Amino acid sequence: MATENNADVQLFQPLEHLRQESHVQSMEQYREMYKRSIEEPEDFWKEIAQQFYWKSQPTGMFLDYNFDCREGPIYIKWMEGAQTNICYNAVDRHVKDGRGNKIAFYWEGNDPDDHGKITFQELQDKVCKFANVLKKLGLKKGDRVAIYMPMILELSVSMLACARIGIIHSIVFAGFSSESLAERILDAHCCAVLTTDGVWRGTKLMNLKQIVDDALVICGKSNHHVKKCVVVKHLTTTEEIEDCGDTEEPPAKRPSRKLKIHWNNERDVWWHEEMAKVSSECEPEWMDAEDPLFMLYTSGSTGKPKGVLHTVGGYMLYAATTFKYDFDYQDNDIYWCTADVGWITGHTYVCYGPLANGATSVIFEGTPFYPDPGRFWAIVEKYKVTKFYTAPTAIRALMKFGDEFVTKYDRSSLKVLATVGEPINPEAWLWYYNVIGEKRCAIVDTFWQTETGGHTLTPLPGATPLKPGSATFPFFGIVPAILDENGQEITESGKEGYLVFKQPWPGIMRTVYGNHERFETVYFKKFPGYYCTGDGAKFDDDGYFWVTGRIDDMVNVSGHLLSTAEIESALIEHAHVSESAVVSHPHDIKGECTYCFVTLKEGCEFSEKLVVELKKKVREKIGPFASPDFVQNAPGLPKTRSGKIMRRILRKIAVGDRNVGDITTMADESVIEKLFQLRPDTA
Ligand code: WT7
Repeated sequence: MATENNADVQLFQPLEHLRQESHVQSMEQYREMYKRSIEEPEDFWKEIAQQFYWKSQPTGMFLDYNFDCREGPIYIKWMEGAQTNICYNAVDRHVKDGRGNKIAFYWEGNDPDDHGKITFQELQDKVCKFANVLKKLGLKKGDRVAIYMPMILELSVSMLACARIGIIHSIVFAGFSSESLAERILDAHCCAVLTTDGVWRGTKLMNLKQIVDDALVICGKSNHHVKKCVVVKHLTTTEEIEDCGDTEEPPAKRPSRKLKIHWNNERDVWWHEEMAKVSSECEPEWMDAEDPLFMLYTSGSTGKPKGVLHTVGGYMLYAATTFKYDFDYQDNDIYWCTADVGWITGHTYVCYGPLANGATSVIFEGTPFYPDPGRFWAIVEKYKVTKFYTAPTAIRALMKFGDEFVTKYDRSSLKVLATVGEPINPEAWLWYYNVIGEKRCAIVDTFWQTETGGHTLTPLPGATPLKPGSATFPFFGIVPAILDENGQEITESGKEGYLVFKQPWPGIMRTVYGNHERFETVYFKKFPGYYCTGDGAKFDDDGYFWVTGRIDDMVNVSGHLLSTAEIESALIEHAHVSESAVVSHPHDIKGECTYCFVTLKEGCEFSEKLVVELKKKVREKIGPFASPDFVQNAPGLPKTRSGKIMRRILRKIAVGDRNVGDITTMADESVIEKLFQLRPDTA
C-alpha cells in the first residue's frame, strides 16, 4: 500500500475570469450545495427535476433503494411512477422554448472538407422520422436494438429515436470485431441492427456493413435471427463495386473507393429510403422514470462483458447536472467532447448531457492525427470551441509531436479543458494547462465509470483549486469512502484502499442486463453497504482524492477497460497455446497496455510468426484496439501451490523488475529466472 502523500503539490487556484461567470463560484458554495445534496438528496434532485418536463409525478417515494446485500436484493429507484421522455427533454423542449434554430451539432468529418450541422428543429424532425421508421419496421417499446455506427449525425439521431419510443439502445463501438458485436447482440437478444456502409478513419477505410454481416452470421449459428438491419449510406454513391481493405490513400476525391456491400433483401434497408416514406411527427412514448433507457457493455473481470443498464429519469437528471456544473455550461458555449459515442463518455457527454442543456456541440468523425497532429486545434479554431473534453492518452500522444501543431491555431476561445478515462499524469496535465490552455483555462479531471452514468469525482471550473493528477472532490450526491481489505473505512490520509460510494445518486446503473445476481456480486458483495468501483484511491491532507487505478484484473488501455481474462481466452483459442496469463504493463502513450505470457503445447515452437498470429487472434475476437503490445514465451507460469497464477510476479517480470517480493507460497521458484531470460528485447 502506497503511503506517499500528495498534499504538498502545487495548487492552481480557480481563474478569476472563469470564477466570475460560473455556476459555483467558491469552495464554500460548493460545500454548501454538496452538503445538501447528500443530506437531503430528495429535495436536492427534486428541485433539479423541475427544470425538465414530466408528464406525471412520482407515485411513491422520490428515492427508494437498498444498497446493503445483507438486507435483501439491491435496488435503486429514483422517481418511480413519474412519466417523462428523455428525447422530448433533450430536443422538443428546446424547440418549444423558441430555440429551434440553435445549432445542436456541428459535424466535422474525417476529411477536413467534410462538414455539416443540424439545428434543434431539424434534429427533432429527423428523430421523429427515424422513430417512425423504427415503428414501421415493427419495433416497439422494450425491444433492444444494436447500433454499430461511426461518429455521424445519424448515430445521435438513432439513439434519440430509440429513446423517443422506448426502444433500449445497445451501442457497440464501431471498432469492435464481428465476434464481439455478435456476442453483444446475442446477450441482449437485439432484434435489429443500425449501421453504416463504411467509414474513413484517418487513412483507413472500414467496411462496417461487412462486420455487421459477419456478426449476424455468427448470431444465426446460435439460432438468433436479427430481423432488420438499417444501413446509412455514408460513403457509397453507386452500387459499383471495388474490393475494400486498408489503404494508405487519403480520401482526396470522394468517393475515392467503393466498398463491397452485400445486401440481404429481406433484412437490409437503406436509411434514406425509409426516411423518405415517413412523417416527421411522432408523439413520444411516455416512459416511467425507472424504465430502461439503454444498455452499454463494459469489460468484466470474468471475461464476459456486462450489459450495464441505465434508466430514463435518474440518468437524465445526472447527465444534465454533471454537464452543467462540471463544464460550467453557459448558453453561448461551443462544446466539444472527442469521445466516440460507442463509449459511455459519448452517451453522456456527446449526446444526452449537452442536449439536455440545449448546448451546441461538435461531433468529430476522425482521429487526432489526420491529416496531421494539429487537427484537434484546427477544429477548436474553426468552431471557436469553449469547452473541450478528451482523454489523457490523446494529450500524451499529441505532446510528442511538439508545440508547433498547437500554437499555429487560435485557441483563445477555450475556457475549460477536461479529461476522462484514466489518471492524468502531471506532465500531461501541465502541458494541457500551459500549452493548450495558455494558463487561461480550468483543467477538469473527471473520474467516473460506465456504471456511474456520469462524473463522480471532479473539480468545478470556477471553484476548485486544482492539483495536477487529482480528480479532487465528489460531485453532488456522491459520498466516497476508502476501505481497507477488511472493509474498514480508512480515515488516515495517504493510505491507499478501495474506492467505494456509500449512497445512490440518480445516474447509477440499475442492473447488469439479464443478470441481476452478477450486478450484486460485482459491485455490492465485497463490501456490504457500499458500491465498489474496483479502483484504488487515497486522499491527501487537504482531502483531495487520488485515484490510483484498477485493483481487479482489468487493464486500462488508452482509457478503455479491457479484461485480461477475455484476452487470455482469445489467446488460448490458438491451436498452439495451452495456457496464458495477461497483465498490465505501463505504456508512455496508452497509459497501460497488455503484456501476454503464453505457454505452448508440447512440440510447438515460439516464433515471430506465432506472435503475429496471436495478436491477430485478439483483434478478431475483441477488436483492433485490444491488440496486445507484448507477447512472451512462458514455458511455465509462476503459481501458488494451489495452482493460482501469481500475477503480481508476472507484472514484475513484464517490466524487468527483479525485486519480485514474497515467493514463499510459490510452487516452483525456478520459473521466475526462466521468464526473465525469455523477456523480449523490446519490453
Ligand atoms: C474506469 C472506468 C468513464 C468514462 C470512460 C471510462 C478509469 C476513468 C478516470 C480518471 C483515474 C479513471 C477507472 C474507472 N478512470 N476516469 N479521471 N482518473 N481513472 O469508462 O470504461 O467504464 O472505465 O476508468 O479505472 O474505473 P469505463
